[in-house]
Amino acid sequence: MRKEVVLITGANGEIGHGLISHLGESGDTKIVAMDVQPLDASLLPLCERFIQGDILDNLLLGRLVAEYDIRTIYHLASILSTKAEYNPETAHRVNVEGTLNLLRLAVEQSSWQGKPVKFLYPSSIAAYGLPSLEVKKKAGKIKECDWCAPTTMYGCNKLYCEHLGRYYSRYYRQLAADEVKHTVDFRCLRFPGLISSVTIPTGGTSDYGPEMLHHAAQGKPYACFVRPDAKLPFMVMPDAIKSLLQLESAPRENLKQMVYNVTSFSPTAEEFMVRVKKAFPNAVITFEPHPARQNIVDSWPADVDDSAATRDWGWKPDYDEQRAFDEYLIPSIKARYA
Ligand code: SER
Repeated sequence: MRKEVVLITGANGEIGHGLISHLGESGDTKIVAMDVQPLDASLLPLCERFIQGDILDNLLLGRLVAEYDIRTIYHLASILSTKAEYNPETAHRVNVEGTLNLLRLAVEQSSWQGKPVKFLYPSSIAAYGLPSLEVKKKAGKIKECDWCAPTTMYGCNKLYCEHLGRYYSRYYRQLAADEVKHTVDFRCLRFPGLISSVTIPTGGTSDYGPEMLHHAAQGKPYACFVRPDAKLPFMVMPDAIKSLLQLESAPRENLKQMVYNVTSFSPTAEEFMVRVKKAFPNAVITFEPHPARQNIVDSWPADVDDSAATRDWGWKPDYDEQRAFDEYLIPSIKARYA
């Protein structure tokens, strides 16, 4: 008998940390974790197995099919938006070909199990592309189907992989003589910028928020790479994990779409700084906008409409802006660097 597990790719990343801690502590889920980097020692005991390897390695993925009954795949591995611009073709390989490999693995697993395998995919506000700052200011809360013209490789990759997920769920091998009954149950969240008190993001463009906070907490000066009026939606990691798990457990028949916005609060970089300085009054924070990174932020929405998630699976964040800082970020970051 093959062991029933969930597979987490990109396990050592920010969402991976949050998800493994949560699933591992709540007990009965067996986790097979994968990452190209070694896994943090604190997460190892929470996993059934850790595999250091690449999602582009099809032989490795093939061996997983032989060994495990994978009931859910959390495909978190990805090269984020800023890093992807330095090597767009490599980012495309990891973000798109990697996702395709995992979707194929899900299809194969589904046919062995005789039921759809759940595929949880974090997409991003980077899937949007607003043509100008004026349009961004007027756009308000944008819906999933609006402004899908991303300007970054990462955003293009995310948007395309959303479509791949839909294809594998509904149309895979649609001309095959034998009816393909069991495929993939693809479920996708478009995350805003995420902020964790435990980990620091690398290679993203919403990183100025978490970087400002973690620098201040360590007494290091920080030069913010966007203007004070730059505005993006954000969410803290416990809410990101909550949304992933809520979407995973929602009854399929309730899900009227495959891709859902989720968000929590939308501060400007200046408002973010005010919150950070309130907690760390000696923090030295300056603004030195990087024009190209600023352009990316200007193309992303200031706010998104997450009412479809609320309607279909009861989504509501636990942390608004004040609670996020006062009850999660500040106390936990202070303890971390104490
Ligand atoms: N946080 C990501 C980035 O900045 C967006 O999903 O690239």
